[in-house]
Amino acid sequence: MKIYTILLFYVLTILYSFELFAQPSEINIIPAPKSIMVNEGAFNLNASTKIYYEKKAQPIADYLKKILTQSTGFDFAVSEWNNLVDVNSIIISLTNSENQFGKEGYTLVVNTNNVMIEAAELNGLFYGVQSLRQLLPPEIESTSKAEKVIWRIPGVVILDAPEFSWRGLNLDCCRHFMNKEFIKRYIDLLAYHKFNVLHWHLTEDQAWRIEIKKYPELTKKGAFRTYDDGSVYGGFYTQEDVKEVVDYAASRFINVVPEIEMPGHSTAAISCYPEISCTGGPFDVGTLWGIYHDIYCAGNEKTFEFLENVINEVVDLFPGRYIHVGGDEAPKDRWKECPKCQQRIKDEGLADEHELQSYFIKRMEKFINSKGKKIVGWDEILEGGLAPEATVQSWRGLRGAIDAAKQGHDVIVSPTSNCYFDYSVDVTDMQKVYLFDPVPQELTAAERKHVLGSEANMWSEYAPQELIDDRLFPRMLALSEVVWTYPTERNFEEFRQRVQRHYDRLDVLGINYGLETKPFEIKKLFNPPSNEFEVNVTQLQKDLQMNIGSFNRELLINQESEDEYGFTVPVSEIIKLSFERNKKPVGKNFIHGFTFNKATRKKVSLTYPFSEKYTAGGIEALTDGLRGSDSFRGGDKSWQGYQGTDFEAIVDLEKTQVINKISVGFFQASSSWVIFPEYVEYYTSEDGIDYTNVGRVDVKSSLRNPDWVQNDIFINLQPSSARYVKIFAKNLDKLPPWHPEAGGKPWLMIDEIIVE
Ligand code: ACM
Ligand code: ZN
Repeated sequence: MKIYTILLFYVLTILYSFELFAQPSEINIIPAPKSIMVNEGAFNLNASTKIYYEKKAQPIADYLKKILTQSTGFDFAVSEWNNLVDVNSIIISLTNSENQFGKEGYTLVVNTNNVMIEAAELNGLFYGVQSLRQLLPPEIESTSKAEKVIWRIPGVVILDAPEFSWRGLNLDCCRHFMNKEFIKRYIDLLAYHKFNVLHWHLTEDQAWRIEIKKYPELTKKGAFRTYDDGSVYGGFYTQEDVKEVVDYAASRFINVVPEIEMPGHSTAAISCYPEISCTGGPFDVGTLWGIYHDIYCAGNEKTFEFLENVINEVVDLFPGRYIHVGGDEAPKDRWKECPKCQQRIKDEGLADEHELQSYFIKRMEKFINSKGKKIVGWDEILEGGLAPEATVQSWRGLRGAIDAAKQGHDVIVSPTSNCYFDYSVDVTDMQKVYLFDPVPQELTAAERKHVLGSEANMWSEYAPQELIDDRLFPRMLALSEVVWTYPTERNFEEFRQRVQRHYDRLDVLGINYGLETKPFEIKKLFNPPSNEFEVNVTQLQKDLQMNIGSFNRELLINQESEDEYGFTVPVSEIIKLSFERNKKPVGKNFIHGFTFNKATRKKVSLTYPFSEKYTAGGIEALTDGLRGSDSFRGGDKSWQGYQGTDFEAIVDLEKTQVINKISVGFFQASSSWVIFPEYVEYYTSEDGIDYTNVGRVDVKSSLRNPDWVQNDIFINLQPSSARYVKIFAKNLDKLPPWHPEAGGKPWLMIDEIIVE
């Protein structure tokens, strides 16, 4: 009887198909379903719409009611289905026939009278609901009652199922802490776009974030880091928090995979328990980004006892099959020097430290397998021999995925090139993500089966919680389509158009999405006869409002073509470029500084050469009137670098002039070895032979702070006459012992010398 009813429903539906087309723009689902047919008419949701479910599907019916009620204000009647198709109803049905759509697939049929979602499992029904949400007007996502909306659902027949079973996001909650509510919000956003894995990065050099009852120091001390100024940053998840997150995720069909890093990225842990490091410490919880060299000692039985005890508690908190053990970026220098580690190499007949890492991971795998779980590790776990059951997450390109799959191992393919959304859109834009193929060409059909899917990696060094939306969206939309739809033809422009419409939904969901791509190109050309810069801006990201402004004056901007704008800069000025969509800012502000001063375009001579890696275009850059951008690596290459030397420059002002200020622009990015000088000395001379020291600034800088900072280090003078100005900036000899790259040769980065 029941199957008969369902079949009849389909037959009627298909008979009516294509008679009258819904407007294509009404249908805008991301990730795109595998198949959509436009059906006759539309279904109007109203106060008397009923929601029917089959017994086992009640959780989905209740969830659907909750989703639909907040914004519509309708109190939908939810009841068990009597197997008859009632008009004005939404039917949530678990088909009892063999389902060709698998665990996560579903069919969604909308016609004038009914909406029907069918699937073999609750997972599929849940995804049918997500598609249904996206067929409704964007206001359906409002958390309060939306007025004057017609809740129209265009008629469709959707047959849908995902291509990949692992559709994930890795959230690094260590470099920056993300609170529990934020994680739950992300679980909803992931589910909305049909992702099913939250890879939760919980331990790092800079923090240990998960409560382990046996080792309370891990969160008492290890969850917090202290800066030079005494300020403390941190936070952690209690086991209750973890359970709450895991349960919430389960209700959204998301599996949470905890990552407990070993043997590297473990400074926070060994700062609490230094006896399980090679040297015995002491260590502080890391404050800088990068790769720390002190890691767990592989020769010490206490290390394994510790990690097994940790894992014992972790496996009880996470019901899923996988535990991620990290394995990436574990420098071997301490192991090379450690008698215990060397003894282990001897005792186990290992060839080298890579095999010692392999021993480490294999031993932990055995333990984790004994708990009924499987390990995932970054592709470094291939080095020295792969653990027998391990799944490999390939991040350094595709090599790891190819090698592991050829050895018969499952792989998650998330290379830096396409899946690292901490990278700027200048490097990895939405198109690059959209065109990503997680299946390496080198794999045979049989090996391809090992590709479980992909993940976005959201490393948070430069993205505290409030910037995560900006980094992840809209690129997550592209990845959702790669892993769910896996379109054979990738028509990026068609996708981009759908993204433009999807933004209306993201707006209602309160997502502070960022840019799709590098938003503009800027050219700054100095014109000597007019003594001004001619600036030309080309807008690269379409469908955004671009604003160009000056802090000092009304800019005269000529629109030179559809997306090209020109203006001149005749005076010292800061230009701001910003972007908006529907009056909401998108992405950061872009600042471009221009200076006209007594040193501008004057000849400079250097005592020590700048690095060939950071030339900024040559010696003229120091007085070219162009200020550096907010990135020393920036595409505009405005910063000149000096590694392992001091900085000494003489500017010839061409004639004796009265001067009252000397200033030099410096950059600091301590994790990247870029630091402010210890001090700067300033000299003047009339003849270029005898110099007078006119001042010195001792620079107080916080090297333990990883923030990127720009600073003009200057002195004000009594007005005095000089033709030559000399500046000496003292570089540190080497990075201090607590720095992750202790002993390395630091950089001075300079953009401009300014004399007023
Ligand atoms: C990684 O990005 N270190 C896996
Ligand atoms: Zn050791």
